[in-house]
Amino acid sequence: MKADDLQALKDAALTDACAAQTVEDLEKIRVKHLGRKGLLPEIMKSLKDADPAERPAIGRIANELKQELASLLESRRAAFQAQTACQTQAFDDTLPGQWRPLGTRHPISQIIEEAVRIFATLGFTVADGPDIETEYYNFDALNTPGNHPSRDTQDTFWLESGELLRTQTSPVQIRVMEEQKPPVRIIAPGRCYRRDTTDATHSSNFHQIEGLYVDRDVSMADLKSDISYFARQMMGPDVKVRFRPHFFPFTEPSVEYDFSCHVCGGKPALAGRGCRLCKNSGWIEISGAGMVNPKVFEKVGYDPETTTGYAFGMGVERIAMVKYSIQDIRLLYDNDIRFLRQLSG
Ligand code: DAH
Repeated sequence: MKADDLQALKDAALTDACAAQTVEDLEKIRVKHLGRKGLLPEIMKSLKDADPAERPAIGRIANELKQELASLLESRRAAFQAQTACQTQAFDDTLPGQWRPLGTRHPISQIIEEAVRIFATLGFTVADGPDIETEYYNFDALNTPGNHPSRDTQDTFWLESGELLRTQTSPVQIRVMEEQKPPVRIIAPGRCYRRDTTDATHSSNFHQIEGLYVDRDVSMADLKSDISYFARQMMGPDVKVRFRPHFFPFTEPSVEYDFSCHVCGGKPALAGRGCRLCKNSGWIEISGAGMVNPKVFEKVGYDPETTTGYAFGMGVERIAMVKYSIQDIRLLYDNDIRFLRQLSG
């Protein structure tokens, strides 16, 4: 073997290694040149027969062949393996997509949105007020002074500043009337707070929708027809509404009103073993209403002689419970998606 021939062999081996397409090709080249029965051991064996003048050059080229080829084969093998790893991780558009759970609108939000839509058809717009109220707006301006017994049923969370978490959405009535002259036609949905012990029908945090209609010649007939219209739109054409005399300091006369029970259709006797939702009464209390007390008009600077108006509250949870036959208010706050998904709308 001559040094030139060996150089040519080395160049060919390196070129082959560069051209290899697979890991198997690389292995074949390695066995052919560097394997135990490969060309390189043979060349080393025949070194003793070579021209002594050429021996050093042959030895050097043989060494270079061994090292350069081994390192080239190794780096190309690593490159092939990295590529295969990438290919197995590559995006496969035939795989099913990743499932991300979609949220649903909470039943409380659904009722509020539906109520806003229904009252909009009667010309009502939406007003807003703060959850942290002053004693004046929450009580005094609503004709409920500090010594009034009806404050007892509305104990709430007081802040060190003397403010409180509002017990009702009624203070929004005052805020709106202070800001604008009659006619006023607003609803005010929002969160309310009371120091109530939580049970199946009570929660210290709940929602109301306030309504206020002020103009000339507003009468109790308007109140009854508008609430009845709302009830039919919200609950369906068969719902019945009943008004019972009641007392609220900021309305005179005042009523409480009930919807017929959605579960037993107002006929608990026909509902098998009776109706748990309405506790066999056939009716669900929704909230209070009445004709705005002239003393409230005085507080906001309206003329109590010429101004008339009705106001109402609505318990959003109550409506949700009747509409969806929910027997425990706590289900509305547990955030259990197995429950919420059943009511998705
Ligand atoms: N704010 C009352 C409550 O939470 C409900 C209410 C009664 C609202 C009569 C009214 C009303 O606007 O006129 O018990």
